[in-house]
Amino acid sequence: MDKLPAHNPDSNMGDYNAACRDFRWEEVLKNFEFSSTGRVNAAHEAVDRHVKTMGDRIALRFLDDEEEETYTFQELSLASNRFANLLLELGVNKKDRVFIFMPRSLELYIAFFGILKVGAIPVPLFEAFMREGLLDRMGDCDPVAVVTHESLKERIPRDEVETLESVIVVGGTEENEIGFDEIKTKDSSFEPVWLDLDDPLLIHYTSGSTGKPKGVLHAQRAIIGHYQTGKWILDLNKDDNYWCTADPGWVTGTSYGIFAPLLNGVGTIIRQGRFTAERWYETIERAKVTVWYTAPTALRLLMGEKEDTASKFDLSSLRYILSVGEPLNPEVIRWALKVYKQPIHDTWWMTETGMIMISNYPSMPIKPGSMGKPFPGVEAAIIDDNGKELGVNEVGNLALKKGWPSMMKEIWKREEKFKEYFIFDPWFISGDSAYIDEDGYFHFHGRVDDVINTAGERVGPFEVESRLVEHPRIVEAAVIGKPDPVRGEIIKAFVVVRGVIEDREALCRELIEFVKGGLAAHSAPREIEFIDTLPKTRSGKIMQRVLKARELGYDLGDLSGAGEGV
Ligand code: PRX
Repeated sequence: MDKLPAHNPDSNMGDYNAACRDFRWEEVLKNFEFSSTGRVNAAHEAVDRHVKTMGDRIALRFLDDEEEETYTFQELSLASNRFANLLLELGVNKKDRVFIFMPRSLELYIAFFGILKVGAIPVPLFEAFMREGLLDRMGDCDPVAVVTHESLKERIPRDEVETLESVIVVGGTEENEIGFDEIKTKDSSFEPVWLDLDDPLLIHYTSGSTGKPKGVLHAQRAIIGHYQTGKWILDLNKDDNYWCTADPGWVTGTSYGIFAPLLNGVGTIIRQGRFTAERWYETIERAKVTVWYTAPTALRLLMGEKEDTASKFDLSSLRYILSVGEPLNPEVIRWALKVYKQPIHDTWWMTETGMIMISNYPSMPIKPGSMGKPFPGVEAAIIDDNGKELGVNEVGNLALKKGWPSMMKEIWKREEKFKEYFIFDPWFISGDSAYIDEDGYFHFHGRVDDVINTAGERVGPFEVESRLVEHPRIVEAAVIGKPDPVRGEIIKAFVVVRGVIEDREALCRELIEFVKGGLAAHSAPREIEFIDTLPKTRSGKIMQRVLKARELGYDLGDLSGAGEGV
């Protein structure tokens, strides 16, 4: 597919090359109050500071199937002040971790900003997590409090997290719980705890190819990147109706569902409820969405709908569409041109980078199949396994030069994990492989490690394998990502089972439910294969790579380190 002409040459960024040439992060700082006051708090910059100039503008617009409720910047400021006062009374202090484990709701956002205001560290977690998934994460960063919903609170491993003192619940409460509604009795004025740019902002847990989930800690300085990418990549303007479909339990849902729009003084649309084409199109129609940030799996599902589903809705408000999280196929862009009368702009980044690093800009021609070019002020390169920079069209490690403001600050309590990203300091090694074409466009090639990307969600094989082997019938398990036309990859498990299998299908179902019930639905295998032995290295490490090659019918490559089962 040929290059597509620039979608909007008059966008906020204007000409890409000129923007790169003139760009200085120091200039961006001038858009923040902290640059003149020296007092930093992300909640102040995203919410409170707007109260003076546009307090009655809508900051949050919440929609579900029946209702709609809005909060202005002023209302959000006051409600989060009340929440901050509640936290203070509960003894929550600067740098304490507070989990947010709740469905998308206005309360979630109020809590988020309240936590930021006391200088504590929010740890948002997607509502699909079950007890064990929660325990892995809570056990890692020792929260003092959790904000949750009555429908989810049973999953919180209260008895096993010793530090957890306060459970704040939206809905019905029992003994030893605090009702979210108590904020109504709290003072609505609160001076944020003032911080430094390098102080913590939040933690998102994400998966690597080995070990338990990692707590990616971001610093307050991340908002500098959120602001500027919101302005230039999301191309946000004050009158936009902006919808980011990601849940705040994932990094896209905070960096771009919360910070980027609000820092730019733009409201954010929150849609409760599971994905259906009708529900999503209805949201665009009802909220007159102008800028829409979504994901390839969702777009592929929409593409798989009957031709006329989109035509039943008025989608004419849409002016700009972006996607993140997985490779965006050129077919999807071709289809979007037909159905939405505009292309999709791919963006590339990761939990660890905190902000979009590579993107297709509104003012730049799109090469379908390419992720675009680095953001101004960001240096990206392809380097080989010795740290040497590679040339045009050579596939290697996608690397980014340290120094962008939203780069993670640390991996919680795991310095050695953090260092693994910087083996070629000053390069940050992403774990993705990619190449740069002759026009400077970046193309995604794959993951270098065994991390699985299923429907845009990053799943570590280790977590799923560990859960599977907890089942009494499982001796050993190995998990791989298997290519899938809609979800990018699905999780496939290979298991060695104890005893005779009488009903394969029933056992498969049982194992899937077992993973769902312990970890989360998105971590559950969609396919399970029973196998006699797993391929292992001589030192006994399971070789997922071999299983994957077998599954895909590839050459098994160099297996000189292999031992049993190959
Ligand atoms: O493999 C890349 C893939 O998602 C990974 C990051 O996942 P996560 O930390 O969960 O963050 C997702 C959203 C920020 C990357 O290492 N990925 C992300 N964007 C793209 C992508 N793969 C291909 N194309 C993209 N645009």
